[in-house]
Amino acid sequence: MNSRIAVVPGSFDPPTLGHLDVIRRAASLYDQLHVLVVHNPGKEAMLPIAQRLTLLEQSIAESDIDGDVVVASWSMGLLVDYATDVDAGVLVKGIRSQVDVAYETPMAIVNRHLAHVETVFLLPDPAHALVSSSLVRQVASLGGDVSPFVPAAVARFLDTGSRDL
Ligand code: PNS
Repeated sequence: MNSRIAVVPGSFDPPTLGHLDVIRRAASLYDQLHVLVVHNPGKEAMLPIAQRLTLLEQSIAESDIDGDVVVASWSMGLLVDYATDVDAGVLVKGIRSQVDVAYETPMAIVNRHLAHVETVFLLPDPAHALVSSSLVRQVASLGGDVSPFVPAAVARFLDTGSRDL
């Protein structure tokens, strides 16, 4: 496993400015970064996986993020199976609060047991500390303006493209 290759996994339903901040920081730390959309069976989805991929690709393309960033999805099993397939030795997660630490720690330990993959926690800009996809979903579903919380590509889509969802 290559410790210079990392995966940023998540539901990204939808991608937020907090996600983009973590992706930007991780892209500057690793030689290759895989941004991986993973279906989370514990959450009711708003957007199809293919739409999340498109929004992530657009958001990254329109940002100042550079480097070797791959956007992909994974529904074939364990997250660490994808990491093993692409030779990634590191999983990167953004930590906004103690709640995130409590949620992420067991997964990090299980993933290390499963495949000797390390998890690195990054602290996003405090400006994004209160932003979550679930809040964005709720505000969007009730007709509110989510543009302060999401990349412009996501705001455009939620404004015009999500009426049939
Ligand atoms: O953005 P989320 O919903 O907090 O992301 C959670 C996710 C998708 C990263 C997590 O549910 C996950 O890793 N799922 C993959 C399934 C897996 O490998 N489970 C066992 C190790 S925890």
